[in-house]
Amino acid sequence: MTGEITIAPSILSADFAKLGEEIRAIDEAGCDWVHVDVMDGHFVPNITIGPDVVAAIRPHTNKPLDVHLMISPCEPYLEAFAKAGSDIITIHAEAGAHLDRSLQVIRGLGRKCGVALNPSTPESAIEYVIDKVDLVLVMTVNPGFGGQAFIGEMCDKVKRVRAMIGSRPIDLEVDGGIGPATAGAVAQAGANVLVAGSAAFKGGQYAENISAIRASAERIIAA
Ligand code: DX5
Ligand code: ZN
Repeated sequence: MTGEITIAPSILSADFAKLGEEIRAIDEAGCDWVHVDVMDGHFVPNITIGPDVVAAIRPHTNKPLDVHLMISPCEPYLEAFAKAGSDIITIHAEAGAHLDRSLQVIRGLGRKCGVALNPSTPESAIEYVIDKVDLVLVMTVNPGFGGQAFIGEMCDKVKRVRAMIGSRPIDLEVDGGIGPATAGAVAQAGANVLVAGSAAFKGGQYAENISAIRASAERIIAA
């Protein structure tokens, strides 16, 4: 949890034509988790992948598959994503009326569960479910696309969520616009899991990219 930084490259920035190879490369490059962005063209204005693709990439890494569901409704698909080999399943607080129930479904499937907040959603939306999650994801861009600019105001939300978490063993993840230039600020605010799409995959030098993001975050924590 706190004090240690987890780097989760988002395969949204990988070459989809050779996904297995890309997963193996990012694993060998030293990532901690593999972040999988699932979009439905309804909750967010883009469409990506489904449970069959998660199942197809599963044999290519032993590292945790951190599956970020940007879909609404999410409940009809939770079992399929669990069976596909997801380790962590994160759903959005805005994706349905019954967040508490959906989180319990994920736990019931034996998977770690996370709750994500869009940039405009206050942290109070998760106050009454905080004891039912393993992870809180603070979106630092509006979900839907890689390569967007980091929303600086989210550092304040990260601080507030960190305070809400207190001593609970809950990971605090940030996603969107994270790279060496922003990793320090989010780590200082209290994030311990950093998702990076473009910054992790750019230029094909995955190990250097991951090290640079990790170094920026850890430099701040050590200071
Ligand atoms: C955005 C996704 C992110 C995205 C991050 O909707 O949830 O995981 O891939 O991409 P970058 O790091 O390029 O902002
Ligand atoms: Zn994501």
